[in-house]
Amino acid sequence: MEDPKCRLSPTTLTIFILHLICIQSISPANGAIAGADTRSSLSAYIIQVRKPTDIHLATIEDLDTFYRSFLPATAASSNQERGIVHSYRHVLSGFAAKLTAEEAKAIGEKDGVLSVRPEKALSLHTTHSPDFLGLRQGVGLWKDSNFGKGVIIGVLDTGVFPDHSSFSDKNVPPPPAKWKGKCDFDGKSCNNKLIGARSFISSINTVAQADPPYDSEGHGTHTASTAAGAFVRDANALGNANGTASGIAPLAHLAIYQVCSSLGCSEGDILAGLDAATEDGVDVLSLSLGGNSQPFYSDLIATGAFAATQKGILVSCSAGNSGPSSGTLSNEAPWILTVGASSIDRSIKATARLGNGKEFDGETLYQPRDFDPVPLPLVYAGEKGDPSSAYCLTGSLGNRTGLRGKVVVCDSDGTGRRDKGQEVQDAGGVAMILVNRIDGGYTTFADRHVLPAVHVSYAAGSDIKQYISTASAPKATVLFKGTHINGRSADPAVTSFSSRGPNAQSPGILKPDIIGPGLNILAGWPFPLGNSTDKKRAFAVLSGTSMSCPHLSGVAALLKSAHPDWSPAAIKSAIITTATTSNLKGQPIVDETLRPADIFATGAGHVNPSKAVDPGLIYDTAPQDYIPYLCGLDYTDSEIERIVKEKVKCSSIRSIPDYQLNYPSISVRFDGSATKVSVTRTVRNVGPAQSRYRSVIDPIKGLDLIGVQPRDLVFTKANQTASYRVDFTRSGKAKPATPYAWGAVTWVSPKHSVRTPVVVRFA
Ligand SMILES: *[C@@H]1O[C@H](CO)[C@@H](O)[C@H](O)[C@H]1NC(C)=O
Ligand SMILES: *[C@@H]1O[C@H](CO)[C@@H](O)[C@H](O)[C@H]1NC(C)=O
Ligand SMILES: *[C@@H]1O[C@H](CO)[C@@H](O)[C@H](O)[C@H]1NC(C)=O
Ligand SMILES: *[C@@H]1O[C@H](CO)[C@@H](O)[C@H](O)[C@H]1NC(C)=O
Repeated sequence: MEDPKCRLSPTTLTIFILHLICIQSISPANGAIAGADTRSSLSAYIIQVRKPTDIHLATIEDLDTFYRSFLPATAASSNQERGIVHSYRHVLSGFAAKLTAEEAKAIGEKDGVLSVRPEKALSLHTTHSPDFLGLRQGVGLWKDSNFGKGVIIGVLDTGVFPDHSSFSDKNVPPPPAKWKGKCDFDGKSCNNKLIGARSFISSINTVAQADPPYDSEGHGTHTASTAAGAFVRDANALGNANGTASGIAPLAHLAIYQVCSSLGCSEGDILAGLDAATEDGVDVLSLSLGGNSQPFYSDLIATGAFAATQKGILVSCSAGNSGPSSGTLSNEAPWILTVGASSIDRSIKATARLGNGKEFDGETLYQPRDFDPVPLPLVYAGEKGDPSSAYCLTGSLGNRTGLRGKVVVCDSDGTGRRDKGQEVQDAGGVAMILVNRIDGGYTTFADRHVLPAVHVSYAAGSDIKQYISTASAPKATVLFKGTHINGRSADPAVTSFSSRGPNAQSPGILKPDIIGPGLNILAGWPFPLGNSTDKKRAFAVLSGTSMSCPHLSGVAALLKSAHPDWSPAAIKSAIITTATTSNLKGQPIVDETLRPADIFATGAGHVNPSKAVDPGLIYDTAPQDYIPYLCGLDYTDSEIERIVKEKVKCSSIRSIPDYQLNYPSISVRFDGSATKVSVTRTVRNVGPAQSRYRSVIDPIKGLDLIGVQPRDLVFTKANQTASYRVDFTRSGKAKPATPYAWGAVTWVSPKHSVRTPVVVRFA
């Protein structure tokens, strides 16, 4: 979650944020147009208009002229400072413009205008992780999918450092003929790996649009190299996590769309990036960013992703870093793959050893070799002084002469962890033990601290504080142990920060869909760490759903390469129905408390790429299938038009409740005294032509019966479809012990196991 220079509290982010929890000083306050004089009254607006049916808009110029016709005379002048910023062709029927409030109001009153609203700012929410996902050279999915060869992954992020060795195009063929994108780096920076690179940042800073998308933040280089980085030997960060790094789809192409800067990401720019990517011919889109939950018609990522889906592009998005509270998701639309974050079986380990001999394992990326492990006086920064000193916030320890020469315990609170170490060091402390608050549980980060430090769990922190308050002369030291694989009991585990369901906008669709590696992930970085000066081989360790999203984007690219005819919904279905629900020890996946995680933390479970390539059955959904679903959400015709970009009349369509969408998971609700809910699904045979499946039911607490009709699904041809119905029944007498309960319906054949997760809500 934290990048080395991060210092931002997630609560200061309102809408579009990168899903790396901390990025240096992203401030939505800067999202509006800054500046004095005449510009101070201008803001960026997104205007959605009805597509003309009578005018033929053959060229971009025609479209521009059409959009311009909505501008009041005052704004239509060619003055650079105002007027249209982006004209959209695919993802939205409309444009972004800089306008005064009066001008915006005047546009809103014109015929054919569906919506006018101020633009919001959003936030951006691996050597070992491919191996952890079972991807190995010469065997299995990497072999079957040719490492993602021929597939184009579009990454909407902070840009890229193009000269990084992760973007070498060794063994990567030229892009497919359908590729229409372009590269705004000069000369030789683009190649067969990095086939496109453009910047769309216009409204949150003054960078001109044609500027090359150099990554001055680091986030975009990290996410792009995670999705499709080349093999790089001896990759490490400060000597840790050393090994051969690679992306998940190492031979896939990358197209970079810079839509975020260190100030954040603005909606208009994100849409412009989505619009270009849709036009350019990418196969998979990776968005490690998002905003707060809102109805899909006003969620512009959802709206833009819909257009991409219509073009056959799979859109993979981070779930958000607002866990562990429930109902904290971003990117909840059913046409999006929503990705939560879990740990991998690698720790970059250090141990706090107390004077009484007790030891507590934790993590840090900074592993000084010369630190003398002699016990030193131990003190809790929160013992006296103002409350902010418990968190070792910058400036809070300044006067505490009592910290000199000591090991200082600081509480973690979501603000910059490296800054806390700096504060301890400035106050004369020798080492830091960073302890989680209760909601951080056992999730610990390997940060590039400025001093000897270790981040430990909440439980360890409680024991350490107890020792401090009872020992007559508390002492401690930190032992540095380097990189360990498979040393912990419970990987993969859901991280504390990973956002949780239920889905606020559409409770009948289970979200997140899936979890994947997002804790302490090593990937490419534009800035050398420590004493190194080698920019091309710089790597950093970051955490966030920003990191798990590109892992799934890479998996989707592998599946697309293995099955070019699969729709985005089919790829999603394969990922969801083959997910793993147990950890490496064969126990149910746990969360940050080390107790079994609930379904709103894991979704279907942990991604299992080698199984996803051969799922047996697929739940498919065509773009037009979403229209009855959207009508069922009780959106108005014009709200739906904003999403699907064509006129819709719900009164003449048979709408469906959201849980009846042909989704690869099932989420139903018992209202009041209801005793029965039925759901139908249709699957397509993508396994052997002659196949027979039998349903296996994981029982659900609070239900009397789950009946599946028919009991067997028999296929005689490839691509054959079959439908089934599930009847959930409860007698309604006993009140269920919990508001939610979950299980699964699994279709099992000798070769395949197609698991459909089920969650039931008792209202
Ligand atoms: C990384 O591993 C390689 C190969 O085992 C080794 O040659 C190299 O010295 C290692 N680098 C570090 C920093 O440990
Ligand atoms: C440190 O001392 C200065 C001057 O005495 C005082 O103004 C300031 O509030 C003190 N800061 C803290 C954190 O106690
Ligand atoms: C980095 O440089 C500093 C100062 O020259 C030196 O003290 C330190 O040991 C070096 N660190 C590493 C990891 O080489
Ligand atoms: C199955 O359908 C896909 C796309 O609809 C098609 O490309 C493929 O050839 C079909 N396979 C068979 C065996 O009919």
